[in-house]
Amino acid sequence: MDKTFYITTPIYYPSARPHMGHAYSSIIADFFARFKNIDGHKVHFLTGTDEHGLKVQRAAEKNGQDTQKFCDQISKTFQDLSKTLNLSNTDFIRTTEERHKKSVQHLWNELEKNDDIYLSNYSGWYSVSDEAFYNEDEIDEIDGKKVAKSSRSSVEWIEEESYFFRLSKWEKPLLEYYKSNPDFIAPESRKNEVISFVKSGLKDLSISRKTFSWGIPVPNNEKHVIYVWLDALTNYLSALEYPDKDHELFKKFWPASIHLIGKDIIRFHAVYWPAFLLAAKIDLPKKIYGHGWILSGEEKMSKSKGNILDPLKIVEKYGLDPLRYYLIKEVSFGNDGNISQERLEDCINSDLANNYGNLCQRVVAFAIKNCKGKVPNEIKFQDEDFIILNKFKDNLENIRSKIDQQNINFYIDYIVNSLFEANKYFNDQEPWKKKDNLIRLNTIVYTTLEIVRKISFLLYPIIPESSLKALKIFNISENEINLSSIENNEYLLKDNNINKIDILFNKIEKNND
Ligand code: MSP
Repeated sequence: MDKTFYITTPIYYPSARPHMGHAYSSIIADFFARFKNIDGHKVHFLTGTDEHGLKVQRAAEKNGQDTQKFCDQISKTFQDLSKTLNLSNTDFIRTTEERHKKSVQHLWNELEKNDDIYLSNYSGWYSVSDEAFYNEDEIDEIDGKKVAKSSRSSVEWIEEESYFFRLSKWEKPLLEYYKSNPDFIAPESRKNEVISFVKSGLKDLSISRKTFSWGIPVPNNEKHVIYVWLDALTNYLSALEYPDKDHELFKKFWPASIHLIGKDIIRFHAVYWPAFLLAAKIDLPKKIYGHGWILSGEEKMSKSKGNILDPLKIVEKYGLDPLRYYLIKEVSFGNDGNISQERLEDCINSDLANNYGNLCQRVVAFAIKNCKGKVPNEIKFQDEDFIILNKFKDNLENIRSKIDQQNINFYIDYIVNSLFEANKYFNDQEPWKKKDNLIRLNTIVYTTLEIVRKISFLLYPIIPESSLKALKIFNISENEINLSSIENNEYLLKDNNINKIDILFNKIEKNND
């Protein structure tokens, strides 16, 4: 049977243009998707836009635009961003699509059928910015204004007729589920936070609104629209053609391998979503991973704070792969991370230009000059060659298991160390002094080329475009990248041509004044 992997990003509100926080979630998801892809999995990678609710409706009103047209426009900028970031997503879902509406209404009916929904009245605090209901004890007052303690976003009092989901009923089953599935919520700190929230007692959840209309109508009561989070979370199912459980996509990819999200939306994903699914008797996703925030000057990057680093501008200035590499490397995954252009430039110079780019250029230039531009044929490995070559195969199982624990930092450290060792190997072996011992010279070149190939494979999930450029040295194309060749310890074919390649990364001139 095929190994499958289904990964999702949060679906983004098209209330404003995309920023670095969105780019971050998407790039990380792409990293996992590409890794699993070259590791022999059939991958389904979903991203999209979350278009209903008051937040989006008000943003459209503020712009004096028809809501659907406004969504079309901004959703397009997210679709464009997916291309700019070179995401390998296999689908892009919009919650205003018919396939999604059908799915959400079906889920609603299931919940209703199982007696998990009842009609009553809601009165309490609501944050439009978070699209979340808050209890009194979750509210603070700042300068006479009521805000949510967790997000600092302002809240408004609402009182209206509303349908409720019997969330309280699922308190115990959820706690039991967390206990018997210790990997369900990650990292550990988020899991503890969720468990203590659930233990503190769950109240039934308001799941419809009556005072605005931008949403999916409640089946059989069109005066209500479905709460935007119940609507949005269902995207993970609707993209697999739920409720058609016999559909190939659903059969193949549900339950999802991982929902990758930001830590600010952990409660929706790790409490509400599993409760809805338990109530509808649908399997739960295998993992919810809540990553940290990208900070700029110690604060969460957000539109309202005006401290946004625009991913498009960064890509324009430095190129895409440096940004991908930097975000993946710099932020200790799971924690918040501060980013700056200064550190990005350092990273380009040291890791990408000096370490990887330089290794590729040096060995290719040397091989063209001294090995007739071909992968050397007459070679004889010594211990030091085997040691450096076999490391990749020997570490592969460990790398795989670290990836399954979302330990991205291990992965990137492994690559940086391997690059460092490879440069050191080439320097220490001094092939330029071996012109009277061609077999040794050839062997050093062969070994270094083989390492470039292997490292480029491992770099592919992080910097796909540059890794492909480097693999042009050997005429290796994208569909030939696979980790099984490392597992099987396959080596480069001898006598094949070696191609010159363009500089992979330009060094950034730094002004040290
Ligand atoms: N629409 C909801 C998600 C629904 S998923 C069923 C939403 N959208 S959002 O556009 O506001 O945010 C999407 C994701 O971007 C969230 O996971 C959020 O954490 C992430 N980021 C937004 N700003 C961020 C940073 N500054 N840093 C890292 N990620 C942050 O929430």
